[in-house]
Amino acid sequence: MKSTKNSRVEFLVFFLSVLLCYLQSLSHCAKLGSETDKVALLAFKNQVADDPFGALSAWNDSLDFCQWHGVTCGARHRRVIALHLNNQSLTGSISPYIGNLAFLRSIILQSNNFYVKIPLEIGNLFRLQYIIFSLNML
Ligand SMILES: *[C@@H]1O[C@H](CO)[C@@H](O)[C@H](O)[C@H]1NC(C)=O
Ligand SMILES: *[C@@H]1O[C@H](CO)[C@@H](O)[C@H](O)[C@H]1NC(C)=O
Repeated sequence: MKSTKNSRVEFLVFFLSVLLCYLQSLSHCAKLGSETDKVALLAFKNQVADDPFGALSAWNDSLDFCQWHGVTCGARHRRVIALHLNNQSLTGSISPYIGNLAFLRSIILQSNNFYVKIPLEIGNLFRLQYIIFSLNML
């Protein structure tokens, strides 16, 4: 009787520690994912050669990237779901890193001066529902 009780306690401790590891690694994954999004946004900014209205000037470490101008993150996870930078007269190319914003649902870059081409990597974004690139030089 006593040993059954002990083994139950042991099992419970084992179960809880497995659960804890699992939850820890999940939050670790979430952290890595949002770091990927930040790197992708900075790569996007890096390809913008001219930003006359300073739309991206506050895209730096003084603010959480979820609060950067034009960026919207999901409510549950700190992952970018929308990038809306229309009508900012941004000049540059669109970084292929945009394809790493795995949770992106909406990208609106209407009325800017983006040139060259729409990166193929956009095709990786299977959650994407709205793409508005009109009025650019693509
Ligand atoms: C960083 O962003 C803040 C606004 O959040 C801005 O005042 C500051 O000039 C920026 N710093 C750099 C180095 O661009
Ligand atoms: C776009 O920007 C121009 C110049 O700042 C402004 O006059 C115009 O109303 C803006 N259009 C929209 C749709 O925001």
